[in-house]
Amino acid sequence: MRGGGIWRVRPYVRPYRTQMLVMLASAAGALVAVSTVPLVTEAVINGPIVHHRGGLVPLAALALALGVGEGILLFVRRWILGRAATGVEADIRNDLYAKLQTLPVSFHERWQSGQLLSRATTDLTLIRIFVGYGLIYLVVNTMTFVYVVALLLHLDVRLGLVTVAAAVPIMITGARFRRDYHSASRRVQDQQGDLTTIIEEAALGIRVIKAFGRHAVEGARFASMARTLQSSSMVAVRLRARFFATLGLVPNLALAAIVLGGGWAVSDHVMTLGGLVAFVTLFLMLVWPVESLGEIMAIAQEASAAIERIWEVFDTPPDIADRPGAVDLDRCEGRLRFENVGFSYSEGGRRVLAGVDLEVAPGETVAIVGATASGKTTLLSLVSRLADVTDGRIAIDGHDIRDMTLASLRRHVAVAFEDPTLFSASVRENLTFGAPDATDAEIDAALDAAQARFAHHLPWGLDTRVGEQGLSLSGGQRQRLALARAILGRPRILVLDDPLSAVDVHTEAKVEAALARLLERTTALVVAHRPSTVALADRVAFLDGGRIVATGSHHELLSTVPGYRAVLAQDVEAPAGPPAWEATAV
Ligand SMILES: Nc1ncnc2c1ncn2[C@@H]1O[C@H](COP(=O)(O)OP(=O)(O)O)[C@@H](O)[C@H]1O
Ligand SMILES: [Mg+2]
Repeated sequence: MRGGGIWRVRPYVRPYRTQMLVMLASAAGALVAVSTVPLVTEAVINGPIVHHRGGLVPLAALALALGVGEGILLFVRRWILGRAATGVEADIRNDLYAKLQTLPVSFHERWQSGQLLSRATTDLTLIRIFVGYGLIYLVVNTMTFVYVVALLLHLDVRLGLVTVAAAVPIMITGARFRRDYHSASRRVQDQQGDLTTIIEEAALGIRVIKAFGRHAVEGARFASMARTLQSSSMVAVRLRARFFATLGLVPNLALAAIVLGGGWAVSDHVMTLGGLVAFVTLFLMLVWPVESLGEIMAIAQEASAAIERIWEVFDTPPDIADRPGAVDLDRCEGRLRFENVGFSYSEGGRRVLAGVDLEVAPGETVAIVGATASGKTTLLSLVSRLADVTDGRIAIDGHDIRDMTLASLRRHVAVAFEDPTLFSASVRENLTFGAPDATDAEIDAALDAAQARFAHHLPWGLDTRVGEQGLSLSGGQRQRLALARAILGRPRILVLDDPLSAVDVHTEAKVEAALARLLERTTALVVAHRPSTVALADRVAFLDGGRIVATGSHHELLSTVPGYRAVLAQDVEAPAGPPAWEATAV
């Protein structure tokens, strides 16, 4: 029953080794107890019944004791096992979550979140079922089979060989089932992931779906995906049904042969009546293990496909991690240098950035201006190492940021993205995301600077839970909370990607005044598209096609660089970013 690297769960099962051993011992005990009963029956029939000898009561008492013993052992087994199985599930889930945190942003861009979600839920459940039931019954049934067949051969060699022969067709169909069922269940699990993605997107994109009247189309898309999943599931069901039928049929055929052969043997006096009864009773003990073999093999293959899916995540190398010997930069002056930085999103892919040289002095604010898709967001994401440079290096106070620990890098560098994500948690929890020790006074100051005092007037103040992705807030409100979150930790280096694109002009002016005060002491890299935001900066770097083509003051660039003028002017006519209604909803 190897198949699909199912044994990769071994490290997770190992901590529960003792429980597993106790479990196996109690299973073996129960097996011995229950299979001794037919031997007692044999003694009862051949002794007190056929020959009218005494000793019925002690034999009956023994049978009773064996029954009670088996019951207790079964209880112990189930209880211990339940704990081990849920423990294994929890351990794998924690590791999976931790792994997801270490994987680069590019990984999450490549993977549908529904595929990750279904791995963290459905697939883990399948593994738990395997560890909790499948694995154990696999062992217990094998044990039962070997032990009982040995007893049967001992009772009567010829009838015992009939039993052994019956195992052959089962093994042949079993091997075929295992192969086919593995790929069938892999397909089902992948499609469950696709379906989860659709549900998730529909929930997150509900406003767009409604606004464009797309619910019928989306509903149809979902229904067709669901039908595909159903027909894949039916393939699995058919495979199971066929195999189960074989498993039901073979023992009955064998039983018929045994009753026939046994009948002749008893009438020819080569076998006692008690012996035949014991043989048949013992043989019947095999029926359930054989029939349940189908279920167990199905569980094992589902788990093996699940393990394959989960280990695809585990096997992804984390390409951004602390280097051995990375330094924890304690004090940071805030000097930021890009040295000949180049970047492409995929190996050998198009250069999104090339030859970027830029030095930002401590306390200086540099605005990055450039047309859409010129590489502004990409450049900023390199500073906090959401991705690593492909060429050149980025240095803080002269240290290559790849030689700093990620923890210290992210302590000194705070980021606010254009599309701010808020988590399903209170406003306070969202704000203190990067600065868990922030005091109320510090939170207030950050909210003031970001013009986000509205947070105090939410129904429960800062304890108000904001919905998933902060949907209950307007785009401008979310941006201002994200800005407050970024400045809360008082970072030495602040990286802002168009932080005010969804904020109305009036509020923007106020945020800018507050930011100007804040930025006096902070090194800042700010993507901007409005002249008023650009005016905050000491210097402007103009990015065009992934290269910095000019740096200077706003006025210098305005008079000497036609491209710069065009980008800013374009913006005055048609503001980029979310539609106007979202900005006015602030
Ligand atoms: N995750 C990504 N994978 C591949 N290409 C990307 C990714 N993000 C951005 N790009 C490409 O990189 C270029 C620069 O994008 P971006 O940095 O977002 O520009 P800007 O912020 O200036 O609009 C664009 O051509 C864009 O298509
Ligand atoms: Mg951008």
